[in-house]
Amino acid sequence: MCGIIGIVGVRPVAPLLVDALKRLEYRGYDSAGVATLEDGALDRRRAEGKLVNLEKRLIAEPLEGTIGIGHTRWATHGAPTERNAHPHATEKLAVVHNGIIENFAELRSALEADGYLFQTDTDTEAVAQLLTRELDRGRTPVEAVRESLPLLRGAFALAILFTGEDDLLIGARRGSPLAIGYGDGEMFLGSDAIALAPFTDTVTYLDDGDWAVLTRNSATIYDEKGTVVSRAIQKSTGTALLVNKGNHRHFMEKEIHEQPEVISHTLAHYLDFTSGKTRAESVPVDFSKIDRLAISACGTAFYAASIGKYWFEQIARLPVDLDIASEFRYREMPLSKDSLALFVSQSGETADTLASLRYCRSQGLNISSIVNVKESTIARESNVVFPTLAGPEIGVASTKAFTCQLSVLASLAIAAGKDRGTIDAGEEQRLVRHLSEVPRFANEVLHLSPQIEAVCRELMQVKHVLYLGRGTSFPLAMEGALKLKEISYIHAEGYAAGELKHGPIALIDETMPVIVIAPHDRLYEKTVSNMQEVAARGGRIILITDAKGAADANVKTLDTIVLPDMPEIIAPLIYALPVQMLAYYTAVFMGTDVDQPRNLAKSVTVE
Ligand code: F6R
Repeated sequence: MCGIIGIVGVRPVAPLLVDALKRLEYRGYDSAGVATLEDGALDRRRAEGKLVNLEKRLIAEPLEGTIGIGHTRWATHGAPTERNAHPHATEKLAVVHNGIIENFAELRSALEADGYLFQTDTDTEAVAQLLTRELDRGRTPVEAVRESLPLLRGAFALAILFTGEDDLLIGARRGSPLAIGYGDGEMFLGSDAIALAPFTDTVTYLDDGDWAVLTRNSATIYDEKGTVVSRAIQKSTGTALLVNKGNHRHFMEKEIHEQPEVISHTLAHYLDFTSGKTRAESVPVDFSKIDRLAISACGTAFYAASIGKYWFEQIARLPVDLDIASEFRYREMPLSKDSLALFVSQSGETADTLASLRYCRSQGLNISSIVNVKESTIARESNVVFPTLAGPEIGVASTKAFTCQLSVLASLAIAAGKDRGTIDAGEEQRLVRHLSEVPRFANEVLHLSPQIEAVCRELMQVKHVLYLGRGTSFPLAMEGALKLKEISYIHAEGYAAGELKHGPIALIDETMPVIVIAPHDRLYEKTVSNMQEVAARGGRIILITDAKGAADANVKTLDTIVLPDMPEIIAPLIYALPVQMLAYYTAVFMGTDVDQPRNLAKSVTVE
């Protein structure tokens, strides 16, 4: 959730650290800080709130030096104040940390008993003080790290600078990601390749438990047991696409508009549009050998998986056990070895999803994942990786990653149907052809933005919104509600339309907009009945449907957003766009921080 960067370089390092933190700010933006060494002396600057505050601080009080570390924080322990901002320092060292030190209270009591005085409320300071105690006992920095790491419980990526050590930067990871970047006479540490992109595209992703000793001209990597190991050096991908908004106001707007293109890239990876077949080389799984699919994910990725469940069950007759990863990891669910475990994650670093993956591995299951960040921990710990080709997603609210996840899930369901003999070649071709139309429809729907923007002037005035849908539109209703609440802070709930009368109908009155997602499919008539129930109680309906749906609605609406007629399988991919745009424009009108909404972070690497 936090982002960390470390540089042992040849140029003034503070501006480089800030530049890297800009790229990492999507991981957390409660506070930020940097520390450098100048002639061996440690100094740091920290500031509460967005990175821009740290930048101002650095203009007023610059930092010199060619070696340094930086941090952008998503607060876990301790309020997001300057005092609790990283780097945490003692006279002997400074440290930045992403993750949670679970036994920090225990460590803190022991260290306080030894006379070490704590300055902050953070878990991280326990690491700083622990290392300091080892140095006070006469150990070298490398020995201090070697002794201290086994005492830490929880998840961490660390970067550490030591007073008087102008050519030494130590990094360590367990549970949270960390990469080494190789420069020309310079070395880097970063939470991800995006942070390192302006400096180098030559990186090593540390394995879990690894720690690394960097100098300007060397990197020595140790595993958890302290043995020197070698890890692959790779060329990182995707970093050239980096982070600018083009002509858009926000990354989220840009990412919504990129969808026709990135969906098209993703689908083309799995489907051969010329032959109308799935690409066997992209789906190295024989679904006829699988009894069940066990899928876990969090948030938006969970809603994508929920739509996937309908497809796997309908198209491939493959039963799906679907769980929110934070529940699955502790549920001790009995799993059959003939199940395939599938994890869906944009970042590939989500702590709960990763823990669920490790549980499935411990139960002997074959592990597969749908991830956007190919170098991520979830990708690296999977037997089979199904990439989404969404490119870097910077807006905290997921948009293009969601529709790319849907693209992969639909493709896999078709591949599974073919393997399991539930669809023949003709049906496969028909479905592939339908999917090939998604980019065109998505493009068309983006042109509805003026109408959607106008509805959002109404939405911005309300306190609560209900989203309803049936079938694959039900998870989309939940996704719509999540999008609205996370960026506009308006309370919203997504419900299966059939559940309305079992409770939520009590909420309906003239102040409550109800967004109904309802293509004219075989369930449409049922949804019309639910809309009538809403209308009868004065609820204000915003209907998202197609021309036939609009004609058959028989109900007064506040607005009807009419999408093109389209085959049923692709409806969730297309209907997702107006749902995202409703949230986006409402948030813009409300003046919230759309790309960095309060309390959230892009990559949730803590429980
Ligand atoms: C919401 C959102 C989150 C993520 C969730 C899982 O817009 O982005 O709900 O979907 O935190 O993240 P990943 O997909 O990285 O595992």
